[in-house]
Amino acid sequence: MTIEPSQRVETVPPSGIRRFFELAEEMDDIISLGVGEPDFSAPWAAREAAITSLELGKTSYTANRGRRELRELIAGDVDRRYDLEYDPDEEVLVTTGASEGVDLALRAVIDPGDTVAVVQPSYVSYVPGVIFAGGEPLPVPTTQETDFKLTTDALYDAGVEGADALVLCYPNNPTGATMTGSELEPIAEFAREHDLVVLSDEIYSELSYEHDHTSIATLPGMRERTIVFNGFSKAYAMTGLRLGYALGPPEAIGAMNRIHQYTMLSAPTTAQYAAIEALESCDDAVAEMRRQYDRRRRLVLSRFEEMGIECFPASGAFYAFPESPWDDGEAFAEALLEQEHVAVVPGTAFGEGGEGHLRVSYATGMDDLKEALDRIERFIS
Ligand SMILES: Cc1ncc(COP(=O)(O)O)c(C=O)c1O
Repeated sequence: MTIEPSQRVETVPPSGIRRFFELAEEMDDIISLGVGEPDFSAPWAAREAAITSLELGKTSYTANRGRRELRELIAGDVDRRYDLEYDPDEEVLVTTGASEGVDLALRAVIDPGDTVAVVQPSYVSYVPGVIFAGGEPLPVPTTQETDFKLTTDALYDAGVEGADALVLCYPNNPTGATMTGSELEPIAEFAREHDLVVLSDEIYSELSYEHDHTSIATLPGMRERTIVFNGFSKAYAMTGLRLGYALGPPEAIGAMNRIHQYTMLSAPTTAQYAAIEALESCDDAVAEMRRQYDRRRRLVLSRFEEMGIECFPASGAFYAFPESPWDDGEAFAEALLEQEHVAVVPGTAFGEGGEGHLRVSYATGMDDLKEALDRIERFIS
């Protein structure tokens, strides 16, 4: 017999990003502006804490929800940075990356056939996550005209009034768009009016360059209907340690923990020790990485402007989302890869609204970034 994948799995195509990187792997001298992960290593103090925990033989499971000490530190940090208060015992869940949090939340709150609105362009995991949870994804396209910010017009145009949940991601992957508190207010009003659960992926919250990050959960009446995801992958350059967390009302976090305790049991113990140290002593390292990303962001935006490539002023995460110099972004990205050995990701990999754009990651050292921009300039002139 052959084992047939389930229909749910069959409907989800492989990630558009992966397909592109398989092409790139076959070439030499590639400069990749395609990856969505920091080029820095985790701060040394965090790595050392992980090593020490191993030397001391701390290799067992932790509590399902994560070590209490870590949950307390997370709650304290989130309160300090984003003015959000959560009870470490009932409202914080330590997860295996923010990715696990998103998956758990979708499975914990979505019933078969529920509609989940997903703002697009967006991180590649949300639509498959909705499908794996048995829900129906409803794309909500955003465009360059509104700097890829979500507006209530976009919500009404997509028919989100009838949806059950809304997935948001600001600062955004792939566009680099952010939303200020006053821009989030009408979105919060819409969510309250139409009784939506909001799943807010704020993994890039520390990488907001033009203004302080506002979590939608801080707006009136939102805390009780929002699950926030965050973690250590981006701001602390700890992608491989796989550590994130979810914050939300006790019923939501309790339901998520019920799935988590039967599937993951607990997030990696070694990574939890690294995260404790990261929260206790690595603020300066985060600030330094943010400063360097901001320098690169400014360089990328000004070089695109000089080249005549239209790009809205991306203000968060580590991505720019310029218009493709050719109408067909995929053809442009493939030709750029073949001729100049520079990898960028076509915007179509991120859903509706991505057409005709390119995602350019500046999580790349300054020398490589400059060389890649020179090659792009040569390619289009
Ligand atoms: C918006 C967004 N959320 C979540 C993730 C994954 O985060 P983690 O490594 O914590 O699972 C990524 C990674 O690229 C991302 O861009």
